[in-house]
Amino acid sequence: MRTYQIFGICGSLRTQSFNLSALKAAGELMPEGMQLSGHTNLLDLPMYNPDHEAHGYPDSVCALRDQILAADGLLISTPEYNWTMSASLKNAIDWISRFKTPQSPFHNKPCAVLSATTGPLGGARVQYDVRRSMSSVGALFLQRPEVFIGMAGQKFDAQGQLTDATTRDFITAQMKAFAQWIDWNQPPA
Ligand SMILES: Cc1cc2nc3c(=O)[nH]c(=O)nc-3n(C[C@H](O)[C@H](O)[C@H](O)COP(=O)(O)O)c2cc1C
Repeated sequence: MRTYQIFGICGSLRTQSFNLSALKAAGELMPEGMQLSGHTNLLDLPMYNPDHEAHGYPDSVCALRDQILAADGLLISTPEYNWTMSASLKNAIDWISRFKTPQSPFHNKPCAVLSATTGPLGGARVQYDVRRSMSSVGALFLQRPEVFIGMAGQKFDAQGQLTDATTRDFITAQMKAFAQWIDWNQPPA
């Protein structure tokens, strides 16, 4: 049986990011037949500017495109900044949306999203913006279960390990559903 390769996109640049920790926890909690193959460092991407396209795409952007194209699914873990996504995540979406291979690398790509915030809502607003923006270029989002990690400071230890049992259960259920979502969205043989 083949193992689905999941590429992680973390919407935070912060070294001790709760969202990066959540992404790694999701990788540990994935079911058999699915693994986290790697994750982004969005700091490598310059700010999107249409003028760049005349000179070709930066290497860091091409590397991210290739990682997305190679993945069976994308897992996005993002903070909420001012009720929406971080500039770094939106910047990555804008860059990748510009490739036509022949369609955007996001086209028909199974995706799942989770979010962690230090406040109580856990990113309830940002997830809909991520879905809306990436759906414009054809990403296929798992609908449920949703995972919102509120009060993240109480759910991870100092080493970034996810210690909250309920949150681990939610992520486990989401990863199981994500594997099934990827199954359902396989192109016909
Ligand atoms: C510029 C900025 C805006 C923020 N806006 C929100 C917000 O709208 N909603 C929220 O729940 N948390 C907000 N926060 C708090 C983040 O949830 C918190 O910083 C979180 O830890 C960021 O995720 P990270 O640990 O992965 O970097 C904001 C933080 C920053 C720096």
